[in-house]
Amino acid sequence: MSVTNKFKKQILCIGAGYVGGPTMAMIAAKCPDYKVTVVDINAARIDAWNTDHLPIFEPGLLEVVKISRGRNLFFSTDVDAAIRDADIIFVSVNTPTKTFGEGAGRAADLQYWEKTARNIVKCSGSDKIIIEKSTLPVRTAAAMERILNANDKGIHFEVLSNPEFLAEGTAIADLENPDRVLIGSQMNESGLRACQEVVDIYAHWIPRERILTSNVWSSELSKLVANAFLAQRISSINSISALCEKTEADVKEVSRAIGKDCRIGSRFLNASVGFGGSCFKKDILNLVYICECYGLTDVARYWESVVLMNDYQKRRFVQNMLRVMFNTIAGKRIALFGFAFKADTGDTRESPAIDIARQLIEERAHVVISDPEALENAAHDLGECGSSSVEYVGDPYKAVAGAHAIAIMTEWKLYMELDYKKIFDSMEKPAFIFDGRNILDHQKLYDLGFNVFPLGTTPLKHF
Ligand code: UDX
Ligand code: UDX
Repeated sequence: MSVTNKFKKQILCIGAGYVGGPTMAMIAAKCPDYKVTVVDINAARIDAWNTDHLPIFEPGLLEVVKISRGRNLFFSTDVDAAIRDADIIFVSVNTPTKTFGEGAGRAADLQYWEKTARNIVKCSGSDKIIIEKSTLPVRTAAAMERILNANDKGIHFEVLSNPEFLAEGTAIADLENPDRVLIGSQMNESGLRACQEVVDIYAHWIPRERILTSNVWSSELSKLVANAFLAQRISSINSISALCEKTEADVKEVSRAIGKDCRIGSRFLNASVGFGGSCFKKDILNLVYICECYGLTDVARYWESVVLMNDYQKRRFVQNMLRVMFNTIAGKRIALFGFAFKADTGDTRESPAIDIARQLIEERAHVVISDPEALENAAHDLGECGSSSVEYVGDPYKAVAGAHAIAIMTEWKLYMELDYKKIFDSMEKPAFIFDGRNILDHQKLYDLGFNVFPLGTTPLKHF
């Protein structure tokens, strides 16, 4: 029996990034009866997926990959052959915000998606199910369906939407035990049949009641709306953090008090220096653009304010640093603890630390960046800033030596466990600490001699 025939179906994923890689690794681990191939045009990425040094840092991912790599999980650059052999194709290529032309800065750039769709048509010799895994504007499936089915080979492509809700840093737990899986299809016979095929995959390990099905448009839109709602909670609490700083209220106490209301819920109420990540901003701007296209200007403005509040929070953080450090930070060494957009990832896409670092550098500060996983990405993000104004130092103790201030950018556990007495002793005085994630013991730091500036509460100052 050939390798191909011993499997029930062949699944392909195009795009071996943060979404495609972990999702397919989980499907392969849970569904040994399916052959899962992941392809990417980036050969270096594929090479890395075939080693123990995976191209992305995600806790627990290597263990899951190792369960099935070489058994029913394969990483390859041979996109065309993989398309030809596949029954079910997940498309997980990136859909960044458009940087040019109509809708620049807001609309999704669908060029990679469309090129992929055209390549699928070119390489296919049989009917296939095509699944949108990338986040896409609502009604993209209609366009894709037209491109795919405008072929003269008599092949039928059924386009489904199956957005991914995993969060980085917890991807494995999210994939293993998701709150829900969502599959959108056309409500006709072939759509529902295709939908059932995808339900069958997830039903290998996910209780059936958590696998939701809907029409394609609801599914596409739900992904954008889920991210918009999550980001909106962060912007809401961040707006309140500014008010708390003026009123002697404490944003942590406010979060706890409102979060106990089960209609509100306690998660995603941590005030921060701002949300980051590849999805929130992009998806909200995309939602804004779609609303504008349909003439829903008020709805567009409502959601846009979530992004504007996030920008305000980042700006406010630096303005506060500048103000309390005697209105000048020129020439001062400032250590940023963390550069990743959240803990437990090396990903820095849209990280608030990028804007904070740039603003500090604009004020002529000497910025020293420390992060356990993201220094390489940080150097890439700040490439234009030049080595005279920014340094990358893995060891946090070395990063702070001689610094005037520390700013916590990422909630890495390691920053909660450092010896702050030792750190204080090695810093310039007065020593400042700005906790952009509210993770440190502020009273203890104050007792050590620091001037402490948490978010959303009264600062602890020695002067
Ligand atoms: C993907 C998600 O699927 C989507 O929801 C989100 O909107 C952004 O893109 P992610 O996996 O984090 O998220 O993106 P990325 O890590 O950039 O991975 C995309 C991969 O697709 C890259 O490795 C890229 O090389 C690959 N790609 C892109 C192709 O293989 N072919 C292309 O034509 C374009
Ligand atoms: C998000 C969604 O959670 C996920 O469902 C979707 O598939 C992709 O986008 P991700 O961006 O990976 O996931 O991480 P998430 O945990 O949502 O954090 C996003 C940003 O919000 C991070 O910068 C994080 O630090 C910040 N955040 C989160 C806060 O500032 N406060 C909070 O209370 C929670």
